[in-house]
Amino acid sequence: MACKVKILYLAFLVLLALEWPEYVCGEPQVPCYFIFGDSLVDNGNNNALNTLNKANFSPYGIDFVDGPTGRFTNGRNIADIIAELLGFDDYIPPYATARGPDILKGVNYGSGSAGIRDETGQQGGDRISMKAQLQNHRVTVARITALLGSRRLANEYLNKCLYTVGMGNNDYINNYFMPQYYPSSKLYTPDQYAADLILRYSLQLEILYRSGARKVGVFGVGDIGCTPFELASHGTNGSSSPCVMMIDDAVKLFNTRLPKMLDDLNNKLANAKFIFVNETSSEDSSSLGFKVVNAPCCKANTQSNKGLCVPDLHPCSNRTEFVYWDGFHPTETANELLAAAAYVALSPLLSSRIDTWEQKDRDSYISSI
Ligand SMILES: *[C@@H]1O[C@H](CO)[C@@H](O)[C@H](O)[C@H]1NC(C)=O
Ligand SMILES: *[C@@H]1O[C@H](CO)[C@@H](O)[C@H](O)[C@H]1NC(C)=O
Ligand SMILES: *[C@@H]1O[C@H](CO)[C@@H](O)[C@H](O)[C@H]1NC(C)=O
Repeated sequence: MACKVKILYLAFLVLLALEWPEYVCGEPQVPCYFIFGDSLVDNGNNNALNTLNKANFSPYGIDFVDGPTGRFTNGRNIADIIAELLGFDDYIPPYATARGPDILKGVNYGSGSAGIRDETGQQGGDRISMKAQLQNHRVTVARITALLGSRRLANEYLNKCLYTVGMGNNDYINNYFMPQYYPSSKLYTPDQYAADLILRYSLQLEILYRSGARKVGVFGVGDIGCTPFELASHGTNGSSSPCVMMIDDAVKLFNTRLPKMLDDLNNKLANAKFIFVNETSSEDSSSLGFKVVNAPCCKANTQSNKGLCVPDLHPCSNRTEFVYWDGFHPTETANELLAAAAYVALSPLLSSRIDTWEQKDRDSYISSI
């Protein structure tokens, strides 16, 4: 992490008999960061589950400091990079293994193949749905209450944390567009399905608010119709678009409803600040420097765990030129772009930019007018 690199560098300066500076590693911009989501953020929660949707084997993690950890990419995932940009000196631990005072920095609940709907992803085995992630968070809140000594102190602390939630991708990939396993596409039109997901999501986010969350970034569904897996499964149907239009059109119905739903929550819930984080790219990937935009870097499985890497095969060597690592997931390089855009969108939630201004600077500014 950037901060560790900084410490190493400073240690080097000390060896050169320079003085150890007072300011070693800045405080993060928020005291704590809680992560809810799917495989874009999972950092090991699926490892011990009975599921095909796990990534704790080579070549996953080939560019990660700890090797394969359960992250669904070659290096850092989106949550890792956001934590780094926020100034944390370590990655946020997965709920599966986070213990003790570590949880005061935040917890990552992300689970590959999980969705807003409880049944989403079940064809692949176990996963931690949004509902179950909220139940796990309740356990964390109880642990934090014990650590801080009172429910009031815990609540004040939880109010200051940043929360990100990224759900919905699998409600399309591993539900609506898998009619062989799920009846949803027969029961709902794309518009009805989006409306139903938004209603469920809104209730889930309200529960997150009730457990103390005030600053919440909510990610829209990404360009899932452009993933190598969906392109291989559906083709582009002769259209000039490089993506599966049928999927992108359905996802758009969800994404356009999401900001309105968040506004409604902000109006209804005191001091709530829900922010929409758009994960749809306006840029053509090749204009961002990528050379391969529609094929995976590793050899993607066509058997039971379709779309994930075949274990232990050498992936492509020029990984920074690929948008996709496997059939679904971005490479670390693509994650860096997604996380940087998300960080910009989240900036109104970062207290160092709003709270300091609100306190003394505000009075002195007013008196200077
Ligand atoms: C394929 O394209 C045709 C003609 O534009 C359209 O009628 C049809 O619905 C499309 N099918 C899918 C699966 O997108
Ligand atoms: C997200 O950004 C894309 C690209 O700029 C834009 O086309 C789309 O309308 C945005 N989505 C929403 C819901 O604002
Ligand atoms: C990078 O990967 C692409 C796609 O496999 C390949 O065509 C190209 O030759 C590779 N470049 C290098 C320098 O390995």
